[in-house]
Amino acid sequence: MNNIMMLIFIWLWLLIILALAVFLLVTAFYNIFLGAPFLSSNRETLDTLLNKIDLSGKKKLYELGSGNGKVISRIAQKYPQLECVGVEFNWAVYFLALGRNLFSKRKVKYLCQNMFKVDLRDADVVFTYLFPKPMERLEPKFAAELKPGAMVISSTFPLKNKQPAQVYRNKSCLATIYVYQY
Ligand SMILES: C[S@@+](CC[C@H](N)C(=O)[O-])C[C@H]1O[C@@H](n2cnc3c(N)ncnc32)[C@H](O)[C@@H]1O
Repeated sequence: MNNIMMLIFIWLWLLIILALAVFLLVTAFYNIFLGAPFLSSNRETLDTLLNKIDLSGKKKLYELGSGNGKVISRIAQKYPQLECVGVEFNWAVYFLALGRNLFSKRKVKYLCQNMFKVDLRDADVVFTYLFPKPMERLEPKFAAELKPGAMVISSTFPLKNKQPAQVYRNKSCLATIYVYQY
């Protein structure tokens, strides 16, 4: 019996190490070859999103590049009326978000997809924490697809050609939040 327990224990550890190695390899691939690093939003960003920006009355929110779901799951908890859709193309972090969803009362819909292929015409709010290049590519997509009154909230990196309606500056430069109205 002891030997069986020992074997199960060793196999479990091997599985955990394998899962970790796959996660690191996939994430490194997205980081190095696709220029899409995964970084989780910090606490200040979350505080601003949850305490300073009012999303009551909004119906549908997309997070483009939703990572491990940390941000969108907190927003979903705060606003029960809001349909929340997270879009993430790195399937290793997408699975982390699905795991988080298992333990959340409020479920988020996650799409394992390239955000540039997602139709944003029904969005009331879009949240992003991306880098300058994807922001530049998203700007014409926002202009073409977003309905009047839609809101874009971008953490850290602003849009190049649009004036923000509000800017929330925080202590960390990685937590400045830009809010745009369409
Ligand atoms: C800096 S992380 C932010 C994660 C999360 N939004 C947060 O605030 O904690 C950017 C995420 O966007 C994802 N991403 C980048 N380009 C993407 C694309 N074209 N389609 C879908 N996801 C993308 C990356 O894989 C990464 O997980």
